[in-house]
Amino acid sequence: MKLSIGFAVGTLLLSVQGVAVPSPESKVVVHEKRYAPPTRWNKRDRIPKSAILPVRIGLTQSNLEKGHDFLMDVSHPDSANYGKLWTADEVHNMFAPSEKAVKDVWNWLVASGIPDERIVHSDNKGWLAFDATTEEMENLLHAEYYNFEHSSADRVAVACDEYHIPGHIKEHVDYITPGIKLISTSKKDLAKRSTQLGHSKGHGHGKGPIWKPKPMPHFPNPESNLSTCDVLITPACVKALYHIPQATKANPNNAMGIFEEGDYYDQEDLNLFFEKYTPYIPQGTHPTPNFVDGAEAPVPVSEGGGESTLDFELAYPLLYPQKLILYQTDDLNYATENPTVGAFNTFLDAIDGSYCTYSAYGEKGDDPVLDPIYPDPVAGGYKGKLMCGAYKPTNVISTSYGEAEIDLPEYYMKRQCNEYLKLGLQGHTFLYSSGDFGVGGFPGDATPSGCLGEDATIFDPQFPVNCPYVTAVGATKVYPGHTVFEPESAANDLIHEPYNSAYSSAGGFSNVYDVPDYQKSAVATYFAKHNPPYRYYEGNASFGKNGGVYNRNGRGIPDVSANGDNIAVFLDGNFTFNGGTSAATPIFASVINLINEERLAIGKSPVGFINPVLYANPWVLNDITNGSNPNCGTAGFSAVPGWDPVTGLGTPNYPKMLALFLSLP
Ligand SMILES: *[C@@H]1O[C@H](CO)[C@@H](O)[C@H](O)[C@H]1NC(C)=O
Ligand SMILES: *[C@@H]1O[C@H](CO)[C@@H](O)[C@H](O)[C@H]1NC(C)=O
Ligand SMILES: *[C@@H]1O[C@H](CO)[C@@H](O)[C@H](O)[C@H]1NC(C)=O
Ligand SMILES: *[C@@H]1O[C@H](CO)[C@@H](O)[C@H](O)[C@H]1NC(C)=O
Repeated sequence: MKLSIGFAVGTLLLSVQGVAVPSPESKVVVHEKRYAPPTRWNKRDRIPKSAILPVRIGLTQSNLEKGHDFLMDVSHPDSANYGKLWTADEVHNMFAPSEKAVKDVWNWLVASGIPDERIVHSDNKGWLAFDATTEEMENLLHAEYYNFEHSSADRVAVACDEYHIPGHIKEHVDYITPGIKLISTSKKDLAKRSTQLGHSKGHGHGKGPIWKPKPMPHFPNPESNLSTCDVLITPACVKALYHIPQATKANPNNAMGIFEEGDYYDQEDLNLFFEKYTPYIPQGTHPTPNFVDGAEAPVPVSEGGGESTLDFELAYPLLYPQKLILYQTDDLNYATENPTVGAFNTFLDAIDGSYCTYSAYGEKGDDPVLDPIYPDPVAGGYKGKLMCGAYKPTNVISTSYGEAEIDLPEYYMKRQCNEYLKLGLQGHTFLYSSGDFGVGGFPGDATPSGCLGEDATIFDPQFPVNCPYVTAVGATKVYPGHTVFEPESAANDLIHEPYNSAYSSAGGFSNVYDVPDYQKSAVATYFAKHNPPYRYYEGNASFGKNGGVYNRNGRGIPDVSANGDNIAVFLDGNFTFNGGTSAATPIFASVINLINEERLAIGKSPVGFINPVLYANPWVLNDITNGSNPNCGTAGFSAVPGWDPVTGLGTPNYPKMLALFLSLP
């Protein structure tokens, strides 16, 4: 006991001496500023000067500005270092926040009057944390803090409209909370991308069931008959569309990962599906569970989830005998009862210990407001510590979840996006579904219509597909009267009518990320040859200016696509349809996993981040040139020859993709 007190005092004295040098003066600059006026939040009173705010300063990691080039170096087909992946240690050492970052920010705080002994540095070195009065914070950040009140519920948030920090520390600071974001502890679901019929589960935002199951026609010989793929997509239809052969290889070190949250598979539905379509897959076949922070699965058949059953019923027929790993994430409280606004951070913690921001401040978790906190304080919640690096990430991870990018702080997204970059350096491929609401977002996200701006006319890009280091997957469809031997079209299905908007494959341009270099020429060609008939703005600083509805400079979404409508599934014991970009993502992911198997078999690395290879070789994909993604009062963008913000570069042609990736080192 004595020893530990003495030690603490000693440490304190040392650190006081360490910061005695006053920080160099530099002009303050805006660090974060809200670019769109808050919708449905009303600014109320100033926060009293004496009120205490819990403050956290996220420190930027070092060498991040080089991260993009590092990733291109191992994943661009023209690079001499293609396929020369980094180890986890190499990645960690390259990017840890620098001593200088910690010192400069600390010096600034102390020179600005925050007493040294109040500041705590988190274990992983990623955060500085302290309590401060509102007056101290307003002086420190040249900001004004207000109470904001939500118009529809009794929720409040503390935030400012903008804040400033000295120019010389800007590069060291990710973001500061409380900051500009209107973060409350409201109930807010992470929208799953499936559009299952006759099933209300998976739809948050307090909406009830919105459609009825269609009666199922009788299909003879469904396993091999391709004549009905225009009304029902079976495993045989998917294999025929993309020329995918029966899988044979199954490297014990290669499994495909599927992320789920708040939606659970059940064994009976999988068994019924295997029995009908893939009798060669033994009854009882199930994913290997990698449960994150108290998650559990499977559930009884009556509670089977539309997303999980869809994902596994699509991937198994394409991959078996290859193994699937289920990253079921978060305990029941956070996954279904009290979802947080943030997403994916606890999952990323679990597969990469270095991403964890477990702190010494008495706060556990990544962001104290946005992310789940473990041990979960609620009764029955998961009582373990936040999982850090508990599981190895698989080479390919398919995720059919997301939310509007406008709902999350820019720096929250950037921090996470950088993690995909780092995992890409290590050879992991992350595929995310683009969304199901065309150029809009989930109805109820950001605005009731899911579109942005005062008149809800501005397009609403999604997260994390906005991240240029994941592969964004849109959805296609075989329209009635057409066959799997003809080109598909963009998926656009009226099943959601008259609810709000039809299901249409999401696509557009991010407001957070500029177009990445690997995509520049494809996007420029699209604008040059097929200029969409809408006003636009250039960069988020001019968000909505002159009636612009999309960011002409933004990262284009999606990158690729695959079938996502009228998918045959068993759900809750019933044979029915499902669809959405939710379906497209595990299909495309399975194609990548099959390619990895072939590369591993000849001693090559997994493909990792695939976008640079695909943009440089668009001929390995089936270009989709028909259809569009309407929403926000427009006809959306159109699928055209070449890349487009509806179906990306197109759907997989497995033999061509395989030949290309096998030809790379
Ligand atoms: C495929 O299904 C169609 C329509 O139901 C039917 O006419 C045809 O005979 C079937 N073909 C085979 C090979 O089973
Ligand atoms: C605005 O876009 C720039 C890139 O042009 C980006 O760096 C910045 O983070 C974006 N700001 C917000 C609030 O998303
Ligand atoms: C499944 O079928 C049963 C009986 O046929 C029916 O009661 C139930 O509502 C159906 N479930 C769904 C989700 O359609
Ligand atoms: C083109 O897409 C439209 C829907 O946008 C669809 O009705 C039509 O059947 C498609 N044409 C072909 C050839 O698939």
